[in-house]
Amino acid sequence: MDSVIVIGGTGETGRRVVGRLVREGRVVRVLTRDAQRAREVLGHDVQLVEGDVREPASIAGITHGMQGLICAVGTRRHFSANGTQQVEAGGVRHLMGELAKSVGHVVLLSGYGLDRNSLFLRGFSWVLNGYYEAKEAAEQAVRSAGVPYTIVRPVTLSNRPATGHAVLNQSGAVGMLSTMSRDVLADVLVRSLGDPSAFGKTFELTEGVAEPLGTQLRTMKQDGLRRMPSHTPMFGVQARA
Ligand SMILES: NC(=O)c1ccc[n+]([C@@H]2O[C@H](COP(=O)([O-])OP(=O)(O)OC[C@H]3O[C@@H](n4cnc5c(N)ncnc54)[C@H](OP(=O)(O)O)[C@@H]3O)[C@@H](O)[C@H]2O)c1
Repeated sequence: MDSVIVIGGTGETGRRVVGRLVREGRVVRVLTRDAQRAREVLGHDVQLVEGDVREPASIAGITHGMQGLICAVGTRRHFSANGTQQVEAGGVRHLMGELAKSVGHVVLLSGYGLDRNSLFLRGFSWVLNGYYEAKEAAEQAVRSAGVPYTIVRPVTLSNRPATGHAVLNQSGAVGMLSTMSRDVLADVLVRSLGDPSAFGKTFELTEGVAEPLGTQLRTMKQDGLRRMPSHTPMFGVQARA
């Protein structure tokens, strides 16, 4: 896909996605709440549109002329007016209305651990003002948008350089305390874009030793054919029968 809009393109993950897309020569548009700051962060090779995902009127038309959409929006001030529910649930819902219909593929950055029936994760979600409920709502909005999509659920993110390769899974076999490089995540988000073997798929992501990404994408099952097991542990690695 030659033209891509990145939501959250100024963030720690988003700017790595943007950097990759620019280096590949694609037309890149970034939504930001502060164009001046975004210009300083991202340089002059990107189009900037100012808007706020909480305000539908401010983002009208932002996908016009774009072939792909990568959503890496998020918040760290979970209980603020720009909090978890407003940004990660409501904001993504706003994006997935008419806006998403004009692109050919949506790639959503979600969170590790959805589908898990774990007291630990429920507590974690509560501390972050309903993080998992918000991510669930965002995923449902993406699945209902009527356009090809891919949902990526990474483990805890780090700004360290890559030490391994992307490891995709739908088996719930990786523990919550794993971390991965944002560079590896950005690579997966960009390389999934426009790849039909990634369409309609949701998978967890960590870093390690793995088959080439294209091979792994092809082996992932499409949504509706799988659920994460609810009994898998949050810590350590457990092989599943
Ligand atoms: N941190 C982790 O360990 C982890 C693990 C798994 C999944 N995730 C998910 O990964 C995603 C990205 O995380 P990150 O740490 O890379 O993000 P980040 O550095 O906090 O960046 C957040 C981005 O969201 C944008 N944003 C925030 N509020 C907005 C609003 N109201 N309207 C428009 N844009 C808004 C910001 O843009 P402006 O400020 O320029 O507007 C910024 O580009 C999040 O969805 C997070 O839940 C994180």
